[in-house]
Amino acid sequence: MLKKQQQASENQALSYDEIFNHRGNLYDLAMQKFPQARELEFKALFYKNAVGDNEKIIDLPSGGAYLKNFTNACTQIDSWEISQGFVLREGINYVQLGKINTIPRKYTRAVCLATLHHIEDKQEFISQLSQTVVKGGIVHVADVADESRIRIFLEEFVHFNNDMGHRGTYISKLKKLPSPSNLEIIRREMVDVPWHFDNIFDAAIFCKLMFGLRAETSLNSIIKALQDYVGITTSGNKVSLNWQLQYFDLKV
Ligand SMILES: C[S@@+](CC[C@H](N)C(=O)[O-])C[C@H]1O[C@@H](n2cnc3c(N)ncnc32)[C@H](O)[C@@H]1O
Repeated sequence: MLKKQQQASENQALSYDEIFNHRGNLYDLAMQKFPQARELEFKALFYKNAVGDNEKIIDLPSGGAYLKNFTNACTQIDSWEISQGFVLREGINYVQLGKINTIPRKYTRAVCLATLHHIEDKQEFISQLSQTVVKGGIVHVADVADESRIRIFLEEFVHFNNDMGHRGTYISKLKKLPSPSNLEIIRREMVDVPWHFDNIFDAAIFCKLMFGLRAETSLNSIIKALQDYVGITTSGNKVSLNWQLQYFDLKV
């Protein structure tokens, strides 16, 4: 165990693009195998400010362009990734972190889902992302909150069961979002966005892939951790993981 912990902390020297270069394909496989599991997480981005006709959205980082599955087919979504580890399939663009402001300012919305805890300079990142959005548009950011049980799941269970570890910095519910002062925060709320599965083993398989857990990490140990940290709700023969994120909308 100690050796694994040591390995995890040695790997902290790896940057997030290196980490996702290694495990982006597993993350993508999880999303391909269970494409509906995180549906509510994506849909909740627009609960307060619905997307109208003829909007243009930039999804960054997009992973494997999953947002496209949950928006109206008429909405234009451009998918951009900052890690080459994600399957850069057709239609997914690559930009280096730090050069996001080189993308033309032409979008009415920008989306950054489940990523901010990986980004060191959050203010600079949000600033650059906002420079892709036209005046009056909205930047949507959603991430794990510092106080949530999800953070502990990631920082403890995932960290010690993944060869590369999992360390992030999370936005506290009680603190100001590090964002540029020219952006007006028009929404800030915690939202329950349960992940849905047909059974608990599917939930464990999804998490094993998504978080790049070691081959020897048993499904039973993942289920136990999900019970202890995240919480599981059973309804009929369906199972949900009690996922929760903090959502922000910032007006440009
Ligand atoms: C949990 S995934 C989220 C992907 C997608 N938005 C979703 O919700 O499925 C985290 C993302 O962080 C990106 N990432 C974060 N920090 C990075 C960095 N410093 N360099 C490269 N990629 C980084 C990865 O490319 C990956 O797309």
